[in-house]
Amino acid sequence: MRIGVLTGGGDCPGLNAVIRAVVRKGVATYGHEFVGFRDGWKGPLEGLSRPLGIADVRGILPRGGTILGSSRTNPFKIENGVERIKDNLAEQGVDALIAIGGEDTLGVATKLFELGVHVVGVPKTIDNDLGATDYTFGFDTAVNIAMEAIDRLHTTAESHHRTLVVEVMGRHAGWIALHAGLAGGANVILLPERQFDVDQVAGYVEKRFQHQYAPIVVVAEGAQPLDGQMVLANQELDSFGHVRLGGIGQWLAEQLEAKTGKEARTVVLGHIQRGGTPTAFDRVLATRLGLQAIDAVNEGDWGKMVAMQSTDIVRVPLAEATRELKTVPLERYEEAEVFFGS
Ligand code: F6P
Repeated sequence: MRIGVLTGGGDCPGLNAVIRAVVRKGVATYGHEFVGFRDGWKGPLEGLSRPLGIADVRGILPRGGTILGSSRTNPFKIENGVERIKDNLAEQGVDALIAIGGEDTLGVATKLFELGVHVVGVPKTIDNDLGATDYTFGFDTAVNIAMEAIDRLHTTAESHHRTLVVEVMGRHAGWIALHAGLAGGANVILLPERQFDVDQVAGYVEKRFQHQYAPIVVVAEGAQPLDGQMVLANQELDSFGHVRLGGIGQWLAEQLEAKTGKEARTVVLGHIQRGGTPTAFDRVLATRLGLQAIDAVNEGDWGKMVAMQSTDIVRVPLAEATRELKTVPLERYEEAEVFFGS
């Protein structure tokens, strides 16, 4: 078979590890050929491709980002998008596609499968918000980066008796905030899944100062105050209808400073969480997902997403995986609450 590979949506550490595993096993074990589509769905839409052989994937296991490039192109928002993709696949002699992406990229894959395209999906995102898989690769790396930042912020916060508010990514799911906050010993963690009371947060902060320590407040970019709204970086929507989040950290720091009388500053970790080399966990997960994806393609098991369930790599229908976002359950938040304000 001649198989196309693409990476779509926000990049994350581990994408190259998937590409490597797919190509290495696909060529060596099954004798398939590969073509790399550039920049997500833009590649098959515009016929933008590059060769993808074993030589092209050597040395990329530890590299962050994606050698194929990425974009948030939505072919369903472009005139004749699906026909153009089908035509380009036929023109390039591509029998099947492996789409590596999050809810948007795999949402497109789900619809294309229903329209007859041979596609298998691989879940990626630092947000860890895809259904049907316990973890997505990229998440562990992002959490470790945020944890290290929090560790460093503890010492400077204490030297200056300041509140430090750390804003992390995750869009509408609080997984990064929860895990990084727990691992980093945050004083308070605020998630999109539960609106927060700013007076209660100020109370936690004051209590921490009473213990002669300085508080670190971890806030997810999608968190919102009671009766308040999500803070947006701007008003634009992307081609999948998503808003750009950002700014809640600054808003919260101002509120906390006014309410406690203690200086409060904000650190926005932003794309640092998505950059650089993947952790060992993410490299192994990405590699195992890639191996399972090429097995699925080899068997013609179309319309599936490979997934991690417990410690196994399994296949689930793409439609099931993309049906709804996996957000943080209340009981996981309650575990963390034990440590707030102490
Ligand atoms: O989905 C990954 C993610 O990093 C989110 O956590 C974040 O909200 C969004 O992408 C940022 O997207 P962009 O890099 O396009 O601004």
